Amino acid sequence: MNIENGSYHFRGGVNALDVVKDYGCPLYIYDSAVIKQKYDQLVNAFDGVDLKVHYACKALTNINVLRYIKNLGAGLDAVSIQEVKLALKAGFAADQIMYTPNCVGINEILEAVELRVKINIDNISILEQFGQLRPDYPVCIRVNPHIMAGANAKTSVGHIDSKFGISVYQLPLVQRIVKATNMKVNGLHMHTGSGIMDAEVFLNGAEILFRATEGFEELEFLDFGSGFKVSYKEGDIETDIEELGKKISIRFKDFCEEYGRKLTLVFEPGKFLVSEAGYFLVKTNVVKQTTSTIFAGVDSGLNHLIRPMFYDAHHEIVNVTNPEGKSRIYNVVGYICETDTFGINRRISEISEGDILAFKNAGAYCWMMSSNYNSRYRPAEVMILDGKAHLIRRRERIEDILNNQVEINSLNKESNLLSAPEMKSGKDGGLLGGLKKIKETISL
Ligand SMILES: Cc1ncc(COP(=O)(O)O)c(C=O)c1O
Repeated sequence: MNIENGSYHFRGGVNALDVVKDYGCPLYIYDSAVIKQKYDQLVNAFDGVDLKVHYACKALTNINVLRYIKNLGAGLDAVSIQEVKLALKAGFAADQIMYTPNCVGINEILEAVELRVKINIDNISILEQFGQLRPDYPVCIRVNPHIMAGANAKTSVGHIDSKFGISVYQLPLVQRIVKATNMKVNGLHMHTGSGIMDAEVFLNGAEILFRATEGFEELEFLDFGSGFKVSYKEGDIETDIEELGKKISIRFKDFCEEYGRKLTLVFEPGKFLVSEAGYFLVKTNVVKQTTSTIFAGVDSGLNHLIRPMFYDAHHEIVNVTNPEGKSRIYNVVGYICETDTFGINRRISEISEGDILAFKNAGAYCWMMSSNYNSRYRPAEVMILDGKAHLIRRRERIEDILNNQVEINSLNKESNLLSAPEMKSGKDGGLLGGLKKIKETISL
């Protein structure tokens, strides 16, 4: 999103305020052209290797985003059986999906086998059970390389105290289990964390994975996970993808010669592909001057964008309504009834009540981590594609909040509203039937 002729536009010329006029606020908007640019950048950074990009879809699973990324040529990394099902629904071929669960039961893994996707196993207990039940079905092993990497302790997952992966030091045990059960191991995998700045960390990890291949003779791929650092604000360090691609390509080709077979090199980025494509647009409800601070209070909160409160993540905030005004310092806060801070001491073009603000880097782990806390609706989502804004998820309604709630009829008696015949269970009854009645008298 850039300023053109005094107003913010997405690539392909769509005006941000026009999208808000059509679909309201709060609103997530994804610019597909940015996703394509990132995908192309990654693929072009590698040379002479059989590279496969698996989109880590936990970042953003709107089915249209999945289809768009599939059409670019990517495979997919799923961490739950539900993500596997979404990916199949989106049209990914089963063999293009890698299922990388953690702490799930064997039954969920067997369900994934029924769906014919690739299986990644990350603990000895499941490996033993799987080897006894399905020695015919090849698996990948998630290795814990014991590397401390990543921007945040909460997203650092490859260190010795992490729950993820099988320790590199336990690989002899893995090999004994494989031998005893006659299993086939088709890949080795690692993922050390999110927000890794230095390409050298990936190279060090790669060396550990290369050494780990010893004794695994039927490998088809090595999966180096992800964790590419993206820029959240001006001057931020990003992973140098070109340097990484160049260095890994050279080393991977050498390794394949040593190994005696050409393997596929897999990366599974989430944030890198979709973070910068996303914007979260909110309306300023209140500008509140206190003795020390100016608060801009917006029509959203940690229920819609939890990363600032959860990870201390920094999301740039711009005033879409007044892009080039004189800047002032604000604390931008949400409407949730507890501390709910999006940004402190942010320099933003002067904000008036009613102004639309945009949070940048809102593509990855933003809508996906949203909730109905305070019984608020989750926002709508829009995708900018071929120069047009497409609604890809409607805003929730009161029906969505009540959906799946089950009434206990005896609790219903005292309330006037709830004792209306329409609220009783039956053909047109239940909570939603009653809601129809309420809607006739009050506006929801
Ligand atoms: C196994 C695995 N692969 C890939 C990713 C994607 O990481 P990122 O969004 O930093 O690219 C994650 C994220 O936590 C993950 O757990």
